[in-house]
Amino acid sequence: MRLLRLELLIENGLAERLNSFALKAIHVSFAFREASFPACKKEKRTQPPHFMASPNSHFLRAFLRNKSQVGALTPSGDKLADAMVDWIDWSSVKSAVEFGPGTGVFTEKILTRLRPDSKFFAVEQDEHLADITRARCPGARVHTDCVSNISAICEKEEIDKVDVVISGLPWAVFTPELQKELLVEMKSVLKPGGKFVTFAYLQGMLLPAAQRFRKLLNDEFVDVHQSKVVWGNVPPAFVYRSVREDAPSMAAE
Ligand SMILES: C[S@@+](CC[C@H](N)C(=O)[O-])C[C@H]1O[C@@H](n2cnc3c(N)ncnc32)[C@H](O)[C@@H]1O
Repeated sequence: MRLLRLELLIENGLAERLNSFALKAIHVSFAFREASFPACKKEKRTQPPHFMASPNSHFLRAFLRNKSQVGALTPSGDKLADAMVDWIDWSSVKSAVEFGPGTGVFTEKILTRLRPDSKFFAVEQDEHLADITRARCPGARVHTDCVSNISAICEKEEIDKVDVVISGLPWAVFTPELQKELLVEMKSVLKPGGKFVTFAYLQGMLLPAAQRFRKLLNDEFVDVHQSKVVWGNVPPAFVYRSVREDAPSMAAE
């Protein structure tokens, strides 16, 4: 019933008018169901995205099609996008990857900071959202794929290891197995000393899955810290900034 009412709101073009309070309430009730295996559910394209509609309503539609992989009702806001990219010293980045760009909010920020000679691509499992990111950021290559295939995609891109991974994946709705699988896959393409940036919703930290993800980050990375809460985001969120350990030195072996 709730889904039907949301669908009607979108069809009538009213989704944009949902105020932030209502969105926060809906986020609480929808956004935290754990995804089922496998990592990516293959969605058949039903119709091409309608570029006259706003990215927000496309995002809401994507959420309704696939709640357990989209994990949010609205794209991230500008302040959260800044907090996602500002920690990185982009002048030293030779290669970067974005996981789950959605409508391209972070992609746009990455492209303005990236060195012209750096390599960059994004991986988005939802075909409609991938198309929206391509339209919004023509300079970005977007693979419509699952990030569990990141090694193969890097090979196609002729990139061995990347300096930075910026992730918009909704970790708090993933099962323990999926969290682990995707994080380990991601680490396998990250250079020693490479940086991994992702975000979490503040309200979600009450959930076991979100706490489990935080623990997993601490287990897999040498240096993990949290940004201040971005209160202006809907819902409020913070950023995890993590560093992969350096390669073991010859002397230690
Ligand atoms: C919470 S949304 C964030 C979107 C965007 N980064 C933002 O902050 O507005 C999560 C995005 O990750 C994508 N996603 C989820 N699981 C994925 C997977 N296994 N492979 C690729 N993309 C995935 C979803 O389709 C969705 O676009």
